[in-house]
Parts: sequence; structure tokens; C-alpha cells
Amino acid sequence: MPHSITLIYGDGIGPEVVRSAVEVIDESGVKINWQESLLGLSAMERYNEAVPKDTLLSIKKTKVALKGPTTTPVGGGHISANVVLRKELDLYACIRPIKSIPTVETRFSDVDIVVIRENTEGLYAGPEVELAPGVVVSFRVMTEKGCTRIAKTAFHYADKFKRHQVTLGHKANILKLGDGLLLQAARRIRADFPKISYEEAIVDALAMRLVSEPRNFDVIVLENMFGDIISDLCAGLVGGLGLVPGANIGDEYAVFEAVHGSAPDIAQQDLANPCAMIASALMMLRYLEEYEAAERIEKALFAVLAEKPLRTRDLGGKAGTKEFTTHVIRKLRNR
Ligand code: NAI
Ligand code: MG
Repeated sequence: MPHSITLIYGDGIGPEVVRSAVEVIDESGVKINWQESLLGLSAMERYNEAVPKDTLLSIKKTKVALKGPTTTPVGGGHISANVVLRKELDLYACIRPIKSIPTVETRFSDVDIVVIRENTEGLYAGPEVELAPGVVVSFRVMTEKGCTRIAKTAFHYADKFKRHQVTLGHKANILKLGDGLLLQAARRIRADFPKISYEEAIVDALAMRLVSEPRNFDVIVLENMFGDIISDLCAGLVGGLGLVPGANIGDEYAVFEAVHGSAPDIAQQDLANPCAMIASALMMLRYLEEYEAAERIEKALFAVLAEKPLRTRDLGGKAGTKEFTTHVIRKLRNR
């Protein structure tokens, strides 16, 4: 039986990198029945809606989506399709493995961090209100339920994948109540996981430690905004946004997408690195228990990345998105 998967090309570089991931998966032999849906700018243009009902319905039916990045206008324009999607489908945990690729040299080798970001609360969930001209209040929503389930996710993830440590990044010295809830939740839950060591770190100092001693971190759990920022910082540790995958997971649905955005500065120029999108697709294949195919694709991907000229420009290579994809497909065929 083929897997039914909702496919969202997204905006900017989205269509280029998603096409690449789809071609690679199709070449691997895994049978997928792709159900195309629109989201973000492309959906706005077609339906005047950033998150069309049909797209939500499609994911509710297939339960799994592979998604390209979507553009959200800055300082005005339509609401973020990502924020709506994550809330509507209650995709409360964003899991982002930040792992050095053995064939891509960076300042640090052997970085192996998993950032777990809360996806439905924080500053993303509260409204922004203009109280008076020139005075804006942005509400930050933290709930005991939200804090408990993300802290649980972090410890369960650490336990399942035999990780040894969970670090909680917070700013409870300033946001005493909101981040206080997160601290209390994590302290309660850690009691059930005596084998996993637990530390708390104030997020600004955490950022400094991450760029100087990244190998001292394992699983890091953060609220929504801190998780957003720390994810991109961590991507920089292992070669940049072109490489790092992610999954938005809830109790019922899962949406796989790269950490990066729609990169309008390089869109439609065949410059985008499709690795992060392919790696997100690999997370999806493992979620679908297609372990053998995921392994084969990963080996092919790493083998191509080992040859510098075959990489995309963000990694010092010369290849365009299409050429890189062709190399991965060729490696897959020859294995
Ligand atoms: P971005 O991640 O799109 O780009 C940041 C920088 O990294 C740019 O210089 C870009 O060229 C480069 N970059 C990103 N992905 C790359 C790739 N695969 N290959 C090579 N270079 C890559 O972040 P930015 O510019 O802040 O946001 C652009 C748009 O994307 C905004 O509308 C934002 O809202 C949206 N966005 C969407 C996300 C999603 O759909 N999950 C996540 C993050 C941002
Ligand atoms: Mg981000």
C-alpha cells in the first residue's frame, strides 16, 4: 500500500527544494501517493486565504505532510500560515535534530543536539494590541498544559532515543510567571526519568555556551520564540540553514519541514540547498517506518556532500539545486 502524504510546495525556494525531495524519495522506491495542497502566499494568491480549509482537511485525512517553507510578510500583510497550521493541527512539538554531517567540515565536529521547540504558545499565540498610538503590547501565552506536554516530549524523546541529558532554556529571571510554569513542569517530569541528567540554562547564556561548547549539549527544550532563535543558531553550528531538518508533531498529525524559510533572496535561481528538505523527508520516512530507504538516501546524500564541487554554493560548491539532486539520485541508483 502506498503512503498517502499531503505535499505542500510552499513559497520562495519551497517548490525547488520540495521537488528535489520528492524526486529523491520517488527514486528510492518508497511508494507515496502525494496529495498536493496550497499554503501561504501561493494559497493567498489563489484563494485569498493563507491556510485553505482543503489543506487542513487533506492533512487531517493523510495525517502526515511534507511541507516547503511559506512566506509571511513582515510588518503587515496576511497572518503566518505556519502559526495557524501548527495551532489548527495542534502540532505542539517541533523537533529539530542538529547533527554534524561527517562529510561536511565545520568549526565543530560531532555536534549532536536535538532542539525541541514548543510550537503553539508563547508570543506566537497571544494577540498584539496597540493600546495607544506608539504603544503596543504583545501577549505571551504560557499554560501549564502546554509547558507540561513539551517538557514531557523532551524527556520521552531523550528516553526513547537513549540521549543522556535534557537542558531547559528559559528566561525565568525576567519572565518569572510564564517561564516559571515551564520550569515547574520540567522539574516535575524529570523525577520520572532519573537516568537522564537535567539542567536549566538562562537562554542568553545558553546561546553563548552553544557557540563555544556545542558538544556539551544533547536535548534542549525551549518555549516557542526562544526555540525559533536557538534553532537557527544551532543550524549555524553544523553548516547552516541549508542542512537542518525538522518535524512538527502532535498527538494526531505530523508535518515535516526544514528549519529554514522561503529565502526570497535566492528563490527561483536554482541556488537553494535542498539538503534540509531532503533530510526532513528522511525524518518523515523514518516516521513511516521506511527505515531501509531512509538509510539508503542518507548514505547517498552524505556521499554527494563529501565532494565539495558537487555541493550547492552555501556550502562552498558549484552545483545548483537541480544538479545536486541529480547527483543524489545517481548515487542512489549506483548503490
Ligand atoms: P530564511 O531561512 O528564508 O533565509 C535566511 C538566509 O538563509 C537567507 O540568506 C537565505 O538565502 C539562506 N537560506 C535559507 N535556506 C536556504 C537553503 N535551503 N539554501 C541556501 N540558502 C538558504 O529566513 P528569512 O529570510 O528570515 O525569511 C524569509 C521568509 O521565510 C519570511 O517570509 C519568513 O516568514 C519565512 N519563514 C518561513 C518558515 C517556514 O515556513 N517554516 C520558517 C522561517 C521563515
Ligand atoms: Mg525560524
